[in-house]
Amino acid sequence: MPAETIDGGTFLKSGHQLVDRLLDKYLPSETTEPRSLHKAMRYSVMAGGKRLRPLLALASWQYCGGKSEGEDLPIHRAMVALEMVHTYSLIHDDLPCMDDDDLRRGQPTCHRKFGEAIAVLAGDALHDIAFELMASTGRTEPVIELGRAIGTQGMLGGQVADIEAEGREIDEAGITEIHRRKTGALIRCAVRVGAILADAPPEKLAKLSRFGELIGLAFQVVDDILDVEGDQKLLGKKVGSDSKNLKATYPAVVGLDKAREKAKNLIDNAIELLGEKNDNVLGQIAYFIGQRRS
Ligand code: IPE
Ligand code: IPE
Ligand code: MG
Ligand code: MG
Ligand code: MG
Repeated sequence: MPAETIDGGTFLKSGHQLVDRLLDKYLPSETTEPRSLHKAMRYSVMAGGKRLRPLLALASWQYCGGKSEGEDLPIHRAMVALEMVHTYSLIHDDLPCMDDDDLRRGQPTCHRKFGEAIAVLAGDALHDIAFELMASTGRTEPVIELGRAIGTQGMLGGQVADIEAEGREIDEAGITEIHRRKTGALIRCAVRVGAILADAPPEKLAKLSRFGELIGLAFQVVDDILDVEGDQKLLGKKVGSDSKNLKATYPAVVGLDKAREKAKNLIDNAIELLGEKNDNVLGQIAYFIGQRRS
């Protein structure tokens, strides 16, 4: 699937099958003990989702000259690691002590189906396999990247700030910082890991990092907008969860119109950053992020 000859929508659709095959390969079998845990892990991971983070890593890798032969390269293990970490974050995000949501990826949330204890442990287990897989790329940088992106200065720090901002006054700089960490950091990490595994030169890596930051922030701004005006069937999760929880969101802080404008500007800037080849898959994925309804 050469990155320069296929559009982003097609890339995401056909890439979905590749990601599902890879996930199935690396997830423990439901017939292996502890079965209840493995069942819960598979339930949440295999329910679908856009597979955006692994496909961003793949697109970034290809953008930097990576070529696929087979499905057992370091990039493939990194892709699985990214989706497992993302799914772990969703399982924990939905818990009653966090956002208390009961629908995810079109089905009951993990804790609704398996109970809180197993849901917490399923998230932990996905996190653990993710690091095992990232380390199995044989490179240290992707492991460090992932640890930093999802740690206290990244996703977890953002989740803490998100919870602590519930019901509080916050300004645009504050909400930007929450979103940059809770969602942007892992998306940026996906783009960087793809580039690192393709041995991208420092300038290219720096450009792609910035690209990842812009689309990562845009992704969460759009997520906030869809929580207000999205369609539950397309999203696979309930709308209105943020207002129920008095969350700090872009529409709540700056209004819907400005939030839409913000998302558009971020995406335009990201696509512009890629320069003359703005018809490439990374640019198309950025465009998709701005337009998405699911
Ligand atoms: C949802 O992520 C959580 C956020 C970071 C906003 P996605 O919208 O990528 O969820 P899936 O993977 O498609 O289910
Ligand atoms: C989730 O943000 C961010 C992480 C899971 C790290 P949200 O709480 O807005 O995501 P959804 O709307 O539940 O998918
Ligand atoms: Mg949340
Ligand atoms: Mg949530
Ligand atoms: Mg949300």
